[in-house]
Amino acid sequence: MAAARFVERLNDQIANEFAASQQYIANAIYYDAQTLPRLATFFYAQAVEERNHAMMMIQYLLDVDGDVAIPGVAAPETGFADAVAPVALALEQEQRVSDQIAALMGVAREEGDFLSEQFTQWFLKEQVEEVATMSSLLTVINRSTETLMAVEDYLAREGGSDRAADPTAPPAAGGAL
Ligand SMILES: [Fe+2]
Ligand SMILES: [Fe+2]
Repeated sequence: MAAARFVERLNDQIANEFAASQQYIANAIYYDAQTLPRLATFFYAQAVEERNHAMMMIQYLLDVDGDVAIPGVAAPETGFADAVAPVALALEQEQRVSDQIAALMGVAREEGDFLSEQFTQWFLKEQVEEVATMSSLLTVINRSTETLMAVEDYLAREGGSDRAADPTAPPAAGGAL
């Protein structure tokens, strides 16, 4: 059984992951409406990743007999000033999530909950990748605002965050999408 304080904070993080997923759908729709299909696809895929993070956390709570409270989430930002704004927001979001996961691990450590501490390790590693991906994309989009097609070409070439399935990822409730 995981520490009660950890279970409570992990439930909060499930809300954060679902909120991140909704935000990335909003980002994708912004680009889709402007016929920037690579940017749209990139964010649709990110939305699925965030959903999977939430489902991995749900599976962990199920595994350790912790209570799962499926949360309501705050509405995402949709009024973007320009094509750079959704990526800038994504980078901020990933940096914030890194802090949230680190704090979560801090709770597990304070509680002497080693299983939960180990569980959070994978998410910390994941955050390093996600912050780096968004940071690179922000750099590319900032130098390509005149020619947004250059960003489309970059994503077509580099595949954005399209990484091979990670065999060390925790199992997701219902199976990863
Ligand atoms: Fe996430
Ligand atoms: Fe993320």
